[in-house]
Amino acid sequence: MDAAPIGIFDSGLGGLTVARSVMDKLPNERIIYIGDTANTPYGPKPIALVRELALNVMDEMATRGVKMIVIACNTASAAVLRDARERYEVDAGIPVIEVIQPAARRAVAATSNRRIGVIGTEATVLSRAYLDAFAAVPDLTVIQQACPRFVDFVEAGVTTGQQLYDVATQYLRPLKEADIDTLVLGCTHYPLLTGVISHVMDEQVTLVSSAESTANDVYAKLVDADSLRSDSAGAPEHEFYGTGPVDEFGMLARRFLGPVVGKVQHVEV
Ligand code: DGL
Repeated sequence: MDAAPIGIFDSGLGGLTVARSVMDKLPNERIIYIGDTANTPYGPKPIALVRELALNVMDEMATRGVKMIVIACNTASAAVLRDARERYEVDAGIPVIEVIQPAARRAVAATSNRRIGVIGTEATVLSRAYLDAFAAVPDLTVIQQACPRFVDFVEAGVTTGQQLYDVATQYLRPLKEADIDTLVLGCTHYPLLTGVISHVMDEQVTLVSSAESTANDVYAKLVDADSLRSDSAGAPEHEFYGTGPVDEFGMLARRFLGPVVGKVQHVEV
């Protein structure tokens, strides 16, 4: 089991930000990454459909013998976490890690003025998953804002430029006006846009990405379960898959994550 890979998935490129952190913290671990690019974006879809799509991807990972599933997507985490815990963790003994709780924890630790902004997809905002995650924390004001077009920019490989800047200025205006000091990047695609987001929001605002705290959870869970891949097992070989056409996805994945991506293969789920 220790030598088995960790399964990480997202609707497309965003989950690579989580994969990056997992590789940094756990360089011995093997990763199987699936981008559900045939169905991207998840954000505008009804929660029930996102749930079905995410379960298809996770079933594929379970079939491939992963030792842990990381839902590296806020939209899917909001839609499917409870079902996934039952189906994989309880019934199959495969632990499931998600991205919303880790980001919320980190934001609470970061804020000084107790005013936190959350940006995410329409589905994540509508699900109120972040509001639930913050509910038990006293004296907190949370302002949510959906930024649906951000995912389209990232999936097209556009992370700078005037058009993106204009869209970001429009989306982020209510958050600037709300005097937040901490902004949760509640979509795993958004860390790829931190240049423009940080510029528009002002550098005084702390940007919280789920990637690093999620990787901490992955680390902690593998240590607790005593299932780290051993140092002597040799350099890990990662596998990257897309459910849609793989050429452009592979090119952009290499641009965002580097040559470690290698060849991206097509998978039907
Ligand atoms: N990266 C995903 C998230 O964290 C999904 C983006 C999308 O497909 O709309 O929400």
